[in-house]
Amino acid sequence: MSNYHIKHLEEYYQVYRKSIREPENFWEEIAEEHFIWRKKWDKVLEWDFKKPEVKWFQGAKLNITENCIDRHLATRGDKTAILFEPNNPDEAAEHITYLQLSERVNQFANVLKDHGIKKGDRVCIYVPMIPELAIATLACARIGAIHSVVFAGFSSTALSTRINDSDCKMVITSDGSYRGAKTIDLKGIVDEALESCPGVENVLVAKRINSDIDMKQGRDKWLQPLLDAASTKCEAEVMDAEDPLFILYTSGSTGLPKGMVHTTAGYMVYTAYTFKNAFQYKENDVYWCTADIGWITGHSYIVYGPLANGATTVLFEGVPSYPDFGRFWNIIEKHKVNQFYTAPTAIRALAKQGTGLVDIYDLSSLKVLGSVGEPINEEAWHWYNDNVGKKKSPIIDTWWQTETGGIMITPIPYVTPTKPTYATLPFIGIQPVLMDENGEELKGNQVDGRLCIKFPWPSIARTIWGNHERYKETYFSAYKNMYFTGDGALRDEVGYYRITGRVDDVIIVSGHNLGTAPIEDAINEHPAVAESAIVGFPHDIKGSALYGYVTLKDFGETRVHDNLRREINQIITEHIGPIAKLDKIQFSEGLPKTRSGKIMRRILRKISCNEMDNLGDTSTLLNPEVVQSIIDNRL
Ligand code: WTA
Repeated sequence: MSNYHIKHLEEYYQVYRKSIREPENFWEEIAEEHFIWRKKWDKVLEWDFKKPEVKWFQGAKLNITENCIDRHLATRGDKTAILFEPNNPDEAAEHITYLQLSERVNQFANVLKDHGIKKGDRVCIYVPMIPELAIATLACARIGAIHSVVFAGFSSTALSTRINDSDCKMVITSDGSYRGAKTIDLKGIVDEALESCPGVENVLVAKRINSDIDMKQGRDKWLQPLLDAASTKCEAEVMDAEDPLFILYTSGSTGLPKGMVHTTAGYMVYTAYTFKNAFQYKENDVYWCTADIGWITGHSYIVYGPLANGATTVLFEGVPSYPDFGRFWNIIEKHKVNQFYTAPTAIRALAKQGTGLVDIYDLSSLKVLGSVGEPINEEAWHWYNDNVGKKKSPIIDTWWQTETGGIMITPIPYVTPTKPTYATLPFIGIQPVLMDENGEELKGNQVDGRLCIKFPWPSIARTIWGNHERYKETYFSAYKNMYFTGDGALRDEVGYYRITGRVDDVIIVSGHNLGTAPIEDAINEHPAVAESAIVGFPHDIKGSALYGYVTLKDFGETRVHDNLRREINQIITEHIGPIAKLDKIQFSEGLPKTRSGKIMRRILRKISCNEMDNLGDTSTLLNPEVVQSIIDNRL
């Protein structure tokens, strides 16, 4: 049993060594002792990073919802599974017990079945942070449908791209959503998206803001009456270990977003095991992750990981600034939150408000503070540690990715001594390596390189939906027999890892991954634009913000540049969503290019970061003269 819940550092090293020496035995024991299976596996692991192919627990049969819900009913039926805190603090919080969750998931699953959804079908879920979002994902899992949750802040174009990429038959949405003092017309966005999604047969609409919306006859239905009429019993579909559980899109450096495919058994085992240990969750704790279920953090650590452990997981609809910047602290006090998991960008935004609001609430319930999504800078780390944790709650800086499914490098609280800005040690079963630019492994400590993982773990994404070649190319071709993360990292003198940031064309803005190519494609659709290049530059709150260099077809364009800037951001909002808006847009006569015509983003990146004395050799450029003019006109 001790392997499942690590309690001191020596034990961590012991368990870690075992997990590396005998990975199959190790994961088999965890899987056997802590989950329920319809049938056990024939083989624990089969893998080949060259193909690439990874299979865990082959031959096993299970349903993840039986592990997340049914098995808790005997002992935890009345325990709160999901604690819903609405956007408006005056609206009562809703405690959904495991029993109620079971009934609601089964009703929803029956409604899906009544609408022709069966095992393997894709269902797009475009729902704000209300209980229906978690319930819809679990209902899909109940019947073996593959959910594809799209963050409800994405635009109609981004939504339709994702719906079409995985041929979703159904969309689940709501009339609208609350976001602080604002409401958002989600159904309107869905209607617009569906103009270009011929494969969608049905739209189920949850009522949240009671707005007056159009319902398309034959296609759109209100959800609640269907749920009310449905049975609270629904037999779970028996799934193979390697059957897809969900698709979740993440930005790539080029082209369309990548639909990462996660499968059932390995994902369940790893998210449950990491949840238990990384948060040191104990039976009556109240756990809160502030992410949106539209991102991987919400999938793994609001829904599946916590529920697989029979935990109480808070689902918060609102934003940290509404009705004021004390909202997070207010919720922690109100629900006596024990584990709190958020993003550096939120911490920086809250730190900017000073300590007045954080000091007036009682935060003494907190035991563990988590951080995820981007490197946490030293100042934010200390603010979080001093003012939220009162130097008593360890901060776990958890590094991982949509592709990894679960936490990969993290301190274990009360076990691993923390160090500001360091994600510290690999989690059990994880074998990170640092590589140099020539493909050689950097051995020993005090080295700095590109972060790869050399052995599979249970929740690694198995493919990109419909494009296995791209999966291979993106993650398994840079280094032989390694999974390449796209991140840079260093290992200090004691073997602690610090993530230094992306080494590809992905920019992390407020914790959201944004690929440069889709933004550039959007900008280039503006009739006045000839070409564009996006780079990241440091930003106090967002971590990184976007700097766009744009050349116009007619540089002497008579329209005022400020109007053009607004129009460009408008196009980006329409194509991707407001999160991808540019902070700075500089119009220039040309962009620095190599002789083969490739834009040298490296130079633009340096200029936007004000590192002009460090531009490297520009003489080999096709057009070295533009560099000076870009520098002279920088914003
Ligand atoms: C970055 C989020 C530094 C990293 C779970 C990674 C981090 C990308 C950290 C994945 C961290 C995430 N420290 N960087 N603790 N956590 N990142 O797919 O660049 O949305 O590759 O998954 O976020 O972002 P994603």
